[in-house]
Amino acid sequence: MTGTASKVPFPLSDRPRLWGVAVSHYQVEGDDPCDWTDWEAAGRTNGGACGRAADSWSRYEEDAGLAGALGANAFRFSVSWSRVEPRRGEFDDEALERYRRLVDHLAATGMEPVVTLFHYTHPRWFHSGTPWTSPASVEVFSRFAERTARALGPAARVYTILNEPLVFVLGGFLDGQIPPGIADGRSAASALDHLLAAHAEAAARVRDVTPHAAIGVAHNMMEFVPERRWNPLDRLLANRADRLYNAGLLEAFRTGRWNFTIPPFTRFSGRRDDLPGSLDFLGVNCYSRLHLRSPGRTRVVGDFRYVDRSGRGLTDNGWEIVPEAFERLLRRASSLGLPLLVTENGLADAADSRRSRFLEEHAASLERVAADVPVAGYLHWSLLDNFEWLDGYGPKFGLYSFDPVTFERRERPSAQTFRRLGRRFLEGPPAPQFTRL
Ligand code: FCB
Repeated sequence: MTGTASKVPFPLSDRPRLWGVAVSHYQVEGDDPCDWTDWEAAGRTNGGACGRAADSWSRYEEDAGLAGALGANAFRFSVSWSRVEPRRGEFDDEALERYRRLVDHLAATGMEPVVTLFHYTHPRWFHSGTPWTSPASVEVFSRFAERTARALGPAARVYTILNEPLVFVLGGFLDGQIPPGIADGRSAASALDHLLAAHAEAAARVRDVTPHAAIGVAHNMMEFVPERRWNPLDRLLANRADRLYNAGLLEAFRTGRWNFTIPPFTRFSGRRDDLPGSLDFLGVNCYSRLHLRSPGRTRVVGDFRYVDRSGRGLTDNGWEIVPEAFERLLRRASSLGLPLLVTENGLADAADSRRSRFLEEHAASLERVAADVPVAGYLHWSLLDNFEWLDGYGPKFGLYSFDPVTFERRERPSAQTFRRLGRRFLEGPPAPQFTRL
């Protein structure tokens, strides 16, 4: 079943600008056995076990309050598929009810829930029988999406169906670094086909349940530049990487067709006619830029490195801080002709010595873009420190830290900056409309 796109007004007419925070279920909730838990147990990560994470499963309302105290009017979270459907076809009403309570609480306290339905993890049963390389995955994911939308009710009116589908496919099916840990080009291409089909189908079902919901996808964008500007091979590699990583999915959502290659042999190509109508907005997750050199020092195709070219220093996990790249990438993203929502942007900074300036400069970039194209809002990654997928509790992305024993949350000084910038952003003019649509 596929539905036709209902073009709901977005940015929301009663909340034309969103300023808030983002978290994801596995990274904050704790005690959620799933494929990622098995990955940790098999020693496939550098960061050990997730365990209780930030204990948000029992503290979501407290976390919503912390977001409110930051002046946020939007809260992005994801729904854990493994909690909601612990056994194939068996749904856990209590888990769904827990998310419904969160949605209602957010709405009642003046915050827009921004709901993500897939943020990397799967129930343990998923990969056998209905893996992403099989068309059966589309139906099981869509059924979960529909069931969840029904449970969340009408107060959930902004959805990003998938978080970073391409990053997931590259990590899970080509590099084999994340579950399901496959390293095979054909499987990667097939997984992307089914993920995009699952997105379109789930979008249609969510719309059937909640016709006023605005639907998006969270697309990770990264700037790629030649390490040596004069070197044709570095430039070629940067170009290729951009085409694959940034433009490939934009093109798929714009035209319903995708066609790109990862050297040497992996070709992604496909068609899905209901993709272009499946989005009401484009979510962008944006963090940094990479410097490319070819041939690489260790790998033939090339090296991908973070370099502190702009002199702002690197984040704790070594990412370059480049607010100009954030601006350029958002402008690129606007080529889709859809309103933009920054669904993630932030940095690992335990000492909190760089976060305020980072926020100031990224907010300034955002405002410049918002003067020209519809920007619905900005969601900072993250509200609080959390379990970073492969690196565990090392990187500290939070506006709040928490005590690992008592789980008591503590505001970092940069939260003040976030609050002040939010006040200014929310008072800004409503988004300009696209004229060429
Ligand atoms: C993004 C992920 C998010 C978090 C940040 C740091 O790519 O979507 O879960 O890990 O990176």
